[in-house]
Amino acid sequence: MKHFLKETDFSRREAAGILSSARQHKHHRGEETARPLQGQSWGMIFSKSSTRTRVSFEVAIHELGGNPIFLSRNDIQLGRGESVADTARVLSRYLHGLVVRTYDHSDVEELATCGSVPVINALTDFLHPCQLYTDVFTAAERWVGPGDLAESLKGRKVAFYGDCANNVANSWILGANLFDMEIHLAGPEGFAPGPELRSLLEEEGYGGRFHFTTDPVEAARDADILYTDVWVSMGMEDEERERLDLMAPYAVTSELFEVARPDALFMHCLPAYAGKEVTQEVLDSERSIIFDQAENRLHAQKAILEALARDRAS
Ligand code: CP
Ligand code: NVA
Repeated sequence: MKHFLKETDFSRREAAGILSSARQHKHHRGEETARPLQGQSWGMIFSKSSTRTRVSFEVAIHELGGNPIFLSRNDIQLGRGESVADTARVLSRYLHGLVVRTYDHSDVEELATCGSVPVINALTDFLHPCQLYTDVFTAAERWVGPGDLAESLKGRKVAFYGDCANNVANSWILGANLFDMEIHLAGPEGFAPGPELRSLLEEEGYGGRFHFTTDPVEAARDADILYTDVWVSMGMEDEERERLDLMAPYAVTSELFEVARPDALFMHCLPAYAGKEVTQEVLDSERSIIFDQAENRLHAQKAILEALARDRAS
């Protein structure tokens, strides 16, 4: 059975299909006659806060004909120590799929292995693949309109700033390799992509295809996208002071755009903290497509849900 735990759980061809399907869902929202999740109930186990992911998944499941059931970790026995494996086995007896936001990536893998329904990774400490598919869809629709979305990504340069070892950075590295983009990351020493990501790249046959630098200007040169994320991810609050100090030189500012391509886009998965990882000026600029990204979570996740539901039915 197919799960979506990491970017490369879809082949290149399937991934291109997800982008096209996301565009179809976007253009035909409210007109759908097919309801691929009709009669299904999907559980949403969340161990961390969420605005975009939670709401866009609940709406997506509902609009595809299914019933979303939100399960905050602390409201179910998982929060009192019931094992991940037993949770997977029990919930698989009721549900048709699981959307999971948690800390350890191994938890989503265990849910997938021990359960018998498709599992979608809605963010772990390691990866945020729903965000990545949404992001590349959002950039591609800007670049090609009705043209070939996946094709338009090839050879584009993305510059990622700040915490280059977090879930969104890791997803961008994996996703850039999947979609044949070039990924440059700029951040302080000690926040370069870590060994777990390097092993995954090796396993997937990509080797070390990313560039890490401590020079923010070098990363921005001729970039098509300047991307950043929060400097303090959920679960890292104890390191806040140190991170804010170390990452201050990596804030995305208008000056960085002077060396990027003239039509370069600004992207951020949100939530954003203006005055920290990015200036208010950049957030408000015409280059910024942050709210298109937020909207497109809905359309991209419909495409992912539909692909997994169809795979299960076949
Ligand atoms: N970008 C993102 O995943 O946002 P939420 O944490 O609000 O879901
Ligand atoms: N890196 C951030 C992403 C939030 C959507 C976090 O994990 O908190």
